[in-house]
Amino acid sequence: MYIQKNSRLLKQKLEAKNIAPLCDMIASLPQIQISHINLNDIIEIECIESDKKDSILEAITALKPWRKGPFRILGNTIESEWDSSIKYNIIKNHLHIKNKNIADIGCNNGYYMFRMLELLPKSIIGFDPSALCKCQFDFINRFIQSNIQFELLGIEDLSHYDRTFDVIICLGVLYHRTNPIDSLKLLKNSLNSGGEIIIDCLILDTDEPIVLSPLRYAKMKNVYFIPSIGAIKNWLFRAGFKHIEIIAKKKTDTIEQRKTKWINGESLEDFLDPNDSSKTIEGFQAPIRIYIKAKGK
Ligand SMILES: C[S@@+](CC[C@H](N)C(=O)[O-])C[C@H]1O[C@@H](n2cnc3c(N)ncnc32)[C@H](O)[C@@H]1O
Repeated sequence: MYIQKNSRLLKQKLEAKNIAPLCDMIASLPQIQISHINLNDIIEIECIESDKKDSILEAITALKPWRKGPFRILGNTIESEWDSSIKYNIIKNHLHIKNKNIADIGCNNGYYMFRMLELLPKSIIGFDPSALCKCQFDFINRFIQSNIQFELLGIEDLSHYDRTFDVIICLGVLYHRTNPIDSLKLLKNSLNSGGEIIIDCLILDTDEPIVLSPLRYAKMKNVYFIPSIGAIKNWLFRAGFKHIEIIAKKKTDTIEQRKTKWINGESLEDFLDPNDSSKTIEGFQAPIRIYIKAKGK
């Protein structure tokens, strides 16, 4: 029942006025003979024919905004707003995923999933409710032809999903949730025995167990809770996680998040106090994230 209702909703999302033409465009892209795929910091796809570059540039432009990347496709570089290689390189050494079943919750266009292919997991499934993210994923995967599965679903759908995972990554999602402890429980319940999560979260840089609940943070209206380091550890503990380990802490800078021609609006420099970059424009501590791994059972 849930799956049926959901597949109706999914169909509706893909038939939306702004999305349907993108799906059609991706389906009608010319056949391209790929000569080289490089899954490095810039995910690079090269082909033999040189006359296809313009039609690919048209498609990339139609698929804007590109939040995550970078990608270089047939010589066209997509300098995304976020240099996601920075995040990937923070978590990479903690990804013990060979022959394992992996989920990326809030996978966006799949940048991290494509990067993880080099670590030879058994399967990767990405969850993201954004139809534009799915279109960008489908576009890139048309060239890479991986067997990564993209589900147009959110973290809240995990309890109805019929598969569980050995490793779940869930990056940049928790502070967007109205009930972060329940979200962590959903992640935990989707882990196989011995499984682990890797998450990152905006934090307040203190061990005191406190939480900020802003109406707007760095111009984002959908940031509900920013925990301190102490508070997020408590959330994880309450959700039932064990062996909670902080693997990194990083201030967001304009090397990682920047305005490029591949997004339409503002970026980090517009979200900070112009006279004091240690504060957001609202006067809160400027974005700092921690990266945590924790075991489910
Ligand atoms: C801040 S971005 C983080 C993207 C990526 N994981 C990263 O860390 O670079 C948040 C992502 O979560 C997705 N998202 C929105 N609602 C969601 C939900 N209910 N469950 C899972 N992901 C969601 C958005 O579409 C977006 O791709």
